[in-house]
Amino acid sequence: MSDKHATLTIEGKSYALPIIEGSEGDMAVDIRSLLKESGYITLDSGYMNTGSCSSDITFLDGNKGILNYRGYAIDELAEQCSFIEVAYLLFLGELPNRTQLNDFRELISRYALIHEDMIHFFDHFPPKASPMSILSTMVNSLGSYYPEMSADSSDEAVLSVAARLLSKIRTIAAFSYKKSEGHPLVSPRYDLSYCGNFLNMMFDKPVTPYVVHPEVVATVNKLLILHADHEQNCSTSTVRLVGSAGVNLYTSISAGISALWGPLHGGANQAVIEMLEGIHRDNNDFEKYIKKAKDPNDNFRLSGFGHRVYKTFDPRATIIKRACEQTLKVLNVDDPLLEIAMQLEEIARSDDYFISRNLYPNVDFYSGIIYRAMGIPTNMFTVMFAMGRLPGWISHWQEMMMDTKDRKIGRPRQIYTGPVKRDFVPLHERG
Ligand code: CMC
Repeated sequence: MSDKHATLTIEGKSYALPIIEGSEGDMAVDIRSLLKESGYITLDSGYMNTGSCSSDITFLDGNKGILNYRGYAIDELAEQCSFIEVAYLLFLGELPNRTQLNDFRELISRYALIHEDMIHFFDHFPPKASPMSILSTMVNSLGSYYPEMSADSSDEAVLSVAARLLSKIRTIAAFSYKKSEGHPLVSPRYDLSYCGNFLNMMFDKPVTPYVVHPEVVATVNKLLILHADHEQNCSTSTVRLVGSAGVNLYTSISAGISALWGPLHGGANQAVIEMLEGIHRDNNDFEKYIKKAKDPNDNFRLSGFGHRVYKTFDPRATIIKRACEQTLKVLNVDDPLLEIAMQLEEIARSDDYFISRNLYPNVDFYSGIIYRAMGIPTNMFTVMFAMGRLPGWISHWQEMMMDTKDRKIGRPRQIYTGPVKRDFVPLHERG
């Protein structure tokens, strides 16, 4: 903490508020004592300018387009690491050495199965159930089957809990797809990588065995890394908020999955494809969609555009756009939606409405086109996001739980604007 203070004057009385400085120079005014001293709360709908915690996990500078996990730049991690390596980094704060990484992989392989009883759960969802609702339900249920949740903060305990969830979410995600197709479930394999195993469980069939394509595995790996954490976004804040009441990890993560589902958050990757398909059906009538997006009386927004924090290029989107072009080339897929997306980006980025509001493509703009090329169905896109974001959710839950100094139940205030106190009217007197 710095010894600087900000002074806030309310009705002639001044309050000295401590200034907090982050390790990358980010600054905050600490208002925790303000209510007690002044009787005033601060009001900030949508938490546009509210820090809910201090965190050692991810640094994000939205004006410069910087994203670092535990101090490492996202582009270096995405190019050079495996998703499991990055997950380990997020959990423990350091990159693993070879032995640590192998041990962690081993643990993940060991936990890949889900309890046979839970497999029957899949039979009772309607065939058209969203895989996101299945995922959220199943992850919540894991708590009943694997209740041993350690309060131990040793590295071994953290990795064990994390490995179980990382491993099982992948199995649940793939099984939910197989069930929706009416196909037999494919068991996890010990010899495949985290991403290769997932793809195999998704696409292997008794009649047409899946051939694991290294380029596809590498792209999924990269996408998961790029989604692995993004500090206090809506779903991560949900995980922290739910967890702050003392709720177990599985249930907190299940709540995070539900928050992610929204089209303004992780659900945007699905919404982008639906929007691009709409433009395609409308014979590439870009003007119609741009006009709708700019109309203040129309709820329509360009999905995959804009971000609460980034006021410049989202560094993840830049990497994903490149990966998208490469993957389609490697898979020899000619998807008209890629051309439409690139044209839409160009039109929006030269339009005053988007320029003046700093609206750029975000992480969700090009990712869906990659998933489509791999054969992943549209309603599974947000599940892919959830698999990627899981290490971030776990790390934040863990960090909050281990914070004995500042941990408090999340409980915002409000300004009441309803009727002022009035006299009660008994039922028989209400005309
Ligand atoms: N299309 C059209 N107008 C937009 C868009 C958009 N995609 N995004 C923001 N605006 C406008 C908005 O109407 C407002 O205009 P005005 O100042 O005239 O009222 C201005 O830009 C500021 O927008 P905001 O709603 O105050 O910004 P926010 O920080 O509350 O919202 C956002 C951020 C991501 C929800 C929003 O940009 C959005 O709805 N984007 C589309 C959905 C999307 O792609 N979501 C994924 C976000 S990134 C990954 C993730 O978090 O999961």
